[in-house]
Amino acid sequence: MKHIIEPLDFSLEETQRLLDLADDIAANRQKYTKICDGKKLATLFYEPSTRTRLSFEAAMLNMGGSILGFSSAESSSTAKGESVADTIRMISCYADICAMRHPKEGAPYVASCHASIPIINAGDGGHQHPTQTFTDMMTIRAKKQRIHNLTIGLCGDLKFGRTVHSLIKSLARYEGIRFVLISPYELRVPNYIIEEVLQQQNIPYTQAERLEEVIDQLDILYMTRVQKERFFNEEDYIRLKDSYILDAEKMKLARDDMYVLHPLPRVNEIATEVDNDPRAAYFEQAQNGVYVRMALILLLLGLAPDEQRKEIGIC
Ligand code: CP
Repeated sequence: MKHIIEPLDFSLEETQRLLDLADDIAANRQKYTKICDGKKLATLFYEPSTRTRLSFEAAMLNMGGSILGFSSAESSSTAKGESVADTIRMISCYADICAMRHPKEGAPYVASCHASIPIINAGDGGHQHPTQTFTDMMTIRAKKQRIHNLTIGLCGDLKFGRTVHSLIKSLARYEGIRFVLISPYELRVPNYIIEEVLQQQNIPYTQAERLEEVIDQLDILYMTRVQKERFFNEEDYIRLKDSYILDAEKMKLARDDMYVLHPLPRVNEIATEVDNDPRAAYFEQAQNGVYVRMALILLLLGLAPDEQRKEIGIC
């Protein structure tokens, strides 16, 4: 049994198989409509979500399975003081696989230590968001026909943005990746990622504060929201929240083949006028989230077509 707590729980080869399977699902949805017949997915969301929870649920429903779960801690026995460990022991009796989002870093890992079903981290605090990363990688590969030899700009809240942390760790494994980290000083990428990932692996990176000065270098621009819920005081949030607003003027400075990604939800950081730009890929990215989660459920349940399952080493 395998859990996905962070994206590096899949090797490079396993990640490629996951993305290949997601592409096959996107191209042949009909083939997968009954493949999870009789299986149940539990979605335990202790933090708000639109895309992740509903795309997980859509993924399971698309494959003929069923769903159960809760969308806030208050509507579960957590409100009465039940621990994550006890909750997951119960859920293991009710479902075949579980996606968990939690405000505390490490909570899905704790769950995985007490579960008898596969656990998927659907975002833990400011830490990791592996299924978003797989979605981002599927989108990058679709747009650029590769995941190597790319200059990736990450812009916004790089301190608290868990999608950024997961994406850097994952892309750092590919040849020829260079990062341009664009943020206010207070919201820079945490030191542990700079030191343990970028510096240790000799990955080229630069840090910048002004998007306009670097946007012309980028193959991918990954915009992020300033994470209001992770700030300790509102004053800082208000000061920093509109640090970056990508608009049509700034898009004029970018290459014709620079694609804009965003994990969403967006607040102000991408003006709606950019939505019609052919380089805006964030809604397609959200759609890809369904295919990636379908593929992941199949692989973790051992239901993927035999060829895929054997190559990924899951039994
Ligand atoms: N991208 C993402 O995690 O969105 P939600 O918070 O809506 O799930």
